[in-house]
Amino acid sequence: MKLTIFAATGGIGRQALEQAVAAGHEVTAVVRNPKKLSREVRVVTADLAAPDPAALESAVKGADAVLSGLGPRSASEAGIAGQGTRAIVQAMKATNVRRIVVVSAAPIGTVPSPGRPNPPKHDPGDGFFVRNLFGPLIKAALRKHFADLALMEDVLRDSGLDWTVVRPPRLTGKPVTGSYRTAYGQNLRRGLFVSRADVAHLMLRVLRQPETVKQAIGIAY
Ligand SMILES: NC(=O)c1ccc[n+]([C@@H]2O[C@H](COP(=O)([O-])OP(=O)(O)OC[C@H]3O[C@@H](n4cnc5c(N)ncnc54)[C@H](OP(=O)(O)O)[C@@H]3O)[C@@H](O)[C@H]2O)c1
Repeated sequence: MKLTIFAATGGIGRQALEQAVAAGHEVTAVVRNPKKLSREVRVVTADLAAPDPAALESAVKGADAVLSGLGPRSASEAGIAGQGTRAIVQAMKATNVRRIVVVSAAPIGTVPSPGRPNPPKHDPGDGFFVRNLFGPLIKAALRKHFADLALMEDVLRDSGLDWTVVRPPRLTGKPVTGSYRTAYGQNLRRGLFVSRADVAHLMLRVLRQPETVKQAIGIAY
């Protein structure tokens, strides 16, 4: 396939790039700092905080699918997921590219957003401690970050595109296993960790699974 990978220098993006190239896909990487790239592939340089529509259109034109590992590197960058994903969606619409897979986070199913002001209070996959202890603490600590990811999910739901959102819990740097649990629209009971490499594995896997279109997918071991 022809794939365009946004944020291919990030933890998940780099894994997606490596696995996509290893699988024989033709990759275009969209990054703000090409020096950080781990592979020689076609590159489009773009800072998604100040997106240039022409550059983004040239990056996605002709792609069978777009993958994005975009997210804030620091608290001060919170807002980039919604803003950047909106720009990616616009470029895809302008060039008739339909398939997009992005990374969100496990708590987002219960985070209110303008497009989803009354989400369920609890995720059916969360057990007692996540629901009542860790969940509220993490949501308080990462309020802006999660609001940004919830907005990013709004952008995709409103896009009319063939989107899939992957919602991992705590990310690790362990190698790819391909052995993880997934669930549509909810988290995994006692699933507290997953590696960035396995998130990338799922992002590539769903491209062969049309039933994952317009779905948020929980992933964990
Ligand atoms: N950490 C966790 O445990 C956890 C858990 C669940 C979900 N998540 C979500 O998963 C996402 C991906 O995780 P990760 O570990 O792969 O994150 P990461 O390593 O921080 O990667 C973020 C990527 O976004 C890029 N980016 C940020 N701002 C940009 C901009 N203005 N223009 C272009 N690119 C920009 C970064 O580019 P540079 O390489 O140039 O900096 C980097 O490639 C996180 O952002 C978070 O929302 C994280």
